[in-house]
Amino acid sequence: MSVIKNVKRVTTRTLYEMKVAGEKIAMLTAYDYSMARIIDDAGIDVILVGDSASNVMAGHETTLPITLDQMIYHASSVVRGVKRSFVVVDLPFGTYQGNSSLALASAIRIMKESGAHGVKLEGGSEVIESVKRILSAGVPVMGHLGLMPQSIYKFGTYTVRAKQDAEARKLIDDAKLLTETGCFSLVLEKIPADLAKEVSESIDIPTIGIGAGPDTDGQVLVTHDMMGITAEFHPRFLRRYLQLYDDMKDAVQRYVKDVRSTDFPNEKESY
Ligand code: KIV
Repeated sequence: MSVIKNVKRVTTRTLYEMKVAGEKIAMLTAYDYSMARIIDDAGIDVILVGDSASNVMAGHETTLPITLDQMIYHASSVVRGVKRSFVVVDLPFGTYQGNSSLALASAIRIMKESGAHGVKLEGGSEVIESVKRILSAGVPVMGHLGLMPQSIYKFGTYTVRAKQDAEARKLIDDAKLLTETGCFSLVLEKIPADLAKEVSESIDIPTIGIGAGPDTDGQVLVTHDMMGITAEFHPRFLRRYLQLYDDMKDAVQRYVKDVRSTDFPNEKESY
């Protein structure tokens, strides 16, 4: 019998049981109430209030500038639109690295002020004290390994990570460490498919891939990318389900035309 079919509210337990049953987990990002309503209603399992909001919503080049207050604003808007999905919020850059007390305080603010169900943070052994401290307060933590956009200035590029043995070995060790420490799930971003398969098979918690091949326990995409709103971004891993940039531009052009020609509003659209 399907684990997810009759679930009224997705929990960390649901996600674990889906992994055990071999049912794939579908995750997407959202940053606002209206989008969250649509994707929750469509049956998504996990909604990530990603710090990709920094790029997609605010137009920054990287995820680094977004603040904790801004993440809480996005997350509380998303939570108001959700009935069934599990909502995870990214801890933004500078709110958890190198200081586990700060990490705990940041996670507690997210949980208290937004009503979200868990937090996500990037890194392995370097951030393990922060992970432990947040978990000690009963806050579910999702890990994130591979390409970690908050470390873009260390990596220097957004290309595939862990192609070399040493980096792949560290990633496997970090995945095991995050699992043993108590994370409920792990995002694997832009790593070779074989490595993602090996990691997914060697840990008990569900892995969610983005550019990590078909053998992770679930998949995540940035909603604005899969909807084709961010038209210039086309990495190999991205499947576009709509071309909304073009469709929305066309709708706006038609509206402008109708206003200018006085076709809009017509009699039926007036009081
Ligand atoms: O911020 C984000 O959207 C993410 C996903 C790409 C996993 O971290």
